[in-house]
Amino acid sequence: MDTHPLRLKVQSVAAETPFVRSLVFGVEGGAVPPWQAGAHIRVALPNGGDRPYSLMALPDLPAGTLALGVLREQQSTGGSQFMHALKVGDVVAATGPVNNFRLHEGRAPALLFAGGIGITPILSMAAELKAQDIPYRVHYAGRAEGLLAFLPQLRAICAGALHIHYDSDDSRLDIATALKGAPADSRVYVCGPAGMIDAVKAGALASGIAADHIHYELFKAEQPSSPDKPFEVELKSTGRVVTVAAGQSIIQALEAAGLDVLYDCQRGDCGICQCGVIEGLPDHRDVILSDDEKASNKVMQICVSRAKSERLVLDL
Ligand SMILES: Cc1cc2nc3c(=O)[nH]c(=O)nc-3n(C[C@H](O)[C@H](O)[C@H](O)COP(=O)(O)OP(=O)(O)OC[C@H]3O[C@@H](n4cnc5c(N)ncnc54)[C@H](O)[C@@H]3O)c2cc1C
Ligand code: FES
Repeated sequence: MDTHPLRLKVQSVAAETPFVRSLVFGVEGGAVPPWQAGAHIRVALPNGGDRPYSLMALPDLPAGTLALGVLREQQSTGGSQFMHALKVGDVVAATGPVNNFRLHEGRAPALLFAGGIGITPILSMAAELKAQDIPYRVHYAGRAEGLLAFLPQLRAICAGALHIHYDSDDSRLDIATALKGAPADSRVYVCGPAGMIDAVKAGALASGIAADHIHYELFKAEQPSSPDKPFEVELKSTGRVVTVAAGQSIIQALEAAGLDVLYDCQRGDCGICQCGVIEGLPDHRDVILSDDEKASNKVMQICVSRAKSERLVLDL
């Protein structure tokens, strides 16, 4: 099965800031697949693996094209460097659109928060909310002037609904002020660094917005804060016990024990390796499960997540 069936040909590339490029692609041999605000595609890398990038509803996007915005990571292991090296005429393979960060139904007002490159899905959400005439505000935060990508496009979409915040001056984002007066049924969407997501979640809860109205997407799996420890995994189907060493993932330990496991990204962002947890306490390190799913401890991503307990019994 072709896991990356789309063939995307670069039609144009633009430097939006010194570190962010926009790329517009035509779809080779087919139509643009349907997608909604918050969706991403996974672009295959030449040396294997892939990286997810959010689809952007840029104003004036030519018909039959898809747009991405990519930040060049300084310590990249390949994805963003590859995307930044693409030239007009190059062709990449990609998955169809997947959406784990969709706009929820209803006409409740929306508060959108973006930090840095987290603006990519938020811009598409703003465009969709505007098209549906649902009240919304965008709070877009970055380090300093000149580093925030897509400002002209956002101004064209949002006009007065756009609020820009620079860490370097008085405009710095004050989450409590941004949330002041938001009706209790508001939806809050946030995409940005983990610290910003946590602060927006805490601020929204404190201002009376229910947890199930607060939605977020994190672009990067979290690095462990403490050194990894070994633990045991018991397979429910056979009772077999496999030890996962420090520095080894559950998938690696299972494969070393001769077991077949289904997985793809190995970064905790595609969802393929999700597994039921029968007993034990997972240490969730993925970026795909929601807060509720993590808190339930009933499922986990076995490519990146580990154990807080000495043993996990998994539905394998
Ligand atoms: C759903 C989703 C949507 C996304 N959408 C976008 C988008 O629209 N635009 C965009 O630019 N990106 C997006 N991303 C992020 C993107 O997929 C890539 O992760 C990003 O481009 C970096 O990939 P890379 O291969 O260049 O860097 P990687 O090698 O993955 O490294 C990324 C960063 O991780 C840190 N890092 C890596 N390894 C380590 C380590 N061992 N220890 C400590 N730190 C480490 C470094 O700080 C590095 O700068 C999205 C991610 C997700 C999950
Ligand atoms: S393999 Fe992608 S989330 Fe685990």
